[in-house]
Amino acid sequence: MYSLLFLVLLLYVNFVLHPKKKKEKNALLALHCGSLRKPVMAAACTRALGKLGGAFLRASVVHRSATASYLLGNGFRRAYCSRGTGLRSKLLSARSGGGRLLGCAFLLGGGLGWYQAVKVSVQQHMAEDKQDPEGALKLVLYQYKTCPFCSKVRAFLDYHGAAYEIVEVNPVMRQEIKWSTYRKVPILMVNGELQLNDSSVIISSLKTLFLSKDKSLTDIIHCYPEMKSVNDRGREVTEYNNKYWLMLSEAETAALYPQKGMQKEEMKWRQWADDWLVHLISPNVYRTTGEALASFDYIVREGKFGTVEGFFAKYVGAAAMYIISKRLKSRHNLQDDVRQDLYKAVNEWVAAIGRDRKFMGGSQPNLADLAVFGVLRVMEGLQAFQDMMDNTKVKHWYRRMERAALNHEGRA
Ligand SMILES: *[C@@H]1O[C@H](CO)[C@@H](O)[C@H](O)[C@H]1NC(C)=O
Repeated sequence: MYSLLFLVLLLYVNFVLHPKKKKEKNALLALHCGSLRKPVMAAACTRALGKLGGAFLRASVVHRSATASYLLGNGFRRAYCSRGTGLRSKLLSARSGGGRLLGCAFLLGGGLGWYQAVKVSVQQHMAEDKQDPEGALKLVLYQYKTCPFCSKVRAFLDYHGAAYEIVEVNPVMRQEIKWSTYRKVPILMVNGELQLNDSSVIISSLKTLFLSKDKSLTDIIHCYPEMKSVNDRGREVTEYNNKYWLMLSEAETAALYPQKGMQKEEMKWRQWADDWLVHLISPNVYRTTGEALASFDYIVREGKFGTVEGFFAKYVGAAAMYIISKRLKSRHNLQDDVRQDLYKAVNEWVAAIGRDRKFMGGSQPNLADLAVFGVLRVMEGLQAFQDMMDNTKVKHWYRRMERAALNHEGRA
């Protein structure tokens, strides 16, 4: 009980008393401009991988304009998730800028087990009908079930029919990833030796691997170098170069993006999902006290709490998140009615796809489709999700995405 009170106090200090920068987005943009080396790196990397042609310059320009580096990094972006085949909803959380790890851990702690001791649960995931296209590739995903970035990775893996195991990380102790100096999720371990960090890096590097089997993953990940810097709040942040860029040859690129602009569009909307859409989740799922309770009710049910523990986790967690979500709302300059921002974002997405395409990727989802789907999916089962379905035009696309992921339509 005392630890809970302490936790609430910490949350309060961390999120309410601590003065916040409002215009995080501006910071992101400013930082973005500083990373001119990226295109060169990407090109050099592609060349080093034994491919590359005249697309270099063109690619560089596209890349520079379309890729952002969000130095604010993973901060604490944790939210809801829906896992694999289950269409039920999951949880929540919030994201904030730079390195709010503490908040993150606590927040999810609420969801997944304030009281739980360290606990690893490895789940065999989707073993039945799936064959790993690489044969030897053994994937283990370290995740919080309720984090949209983890949901994105799962959407990608599910769609491509890759088999993987899940290690659910306890968000308070994070014992399960103690072996890693990189302290965030998702982490994807490949064959027990290669550690991929950051959801977009995981997706870009695996997609590259799936498309060009002559490259080794070890070579590919060198193209996504880590870049540490200090943000304007004095926090050290880690960002990854080229994270939306696939390391493909000119021919492979042309095959993947048959029409002009497709590549740039995909990168732009992947970034949008990470930098904007994600921020709309927490304020929406904790919008009212009732919704906050419903969100935590789900977490507690999933988290296998004892009766008393669950009771406290639910009410204290919900109260804390209700407060936090108000902070997030002002940090991201959302409207008073946060639903409106969600509807607007989702309708923008649908408008970007247009009437003539099933997916942004055309007849099949591209990485932007998978990212947006992965993020939105974490609200499933909650009021915010239902409202979104009822009040926007996203439904048809969403159902198509669901089927595509469920049926592993992108299987090699
Ligand atoms: C991921 O992070 C760990 C720990 O910081 C590091 O050792 C590893 O090289 C990183 N992986 C990649 C692909 O950068």
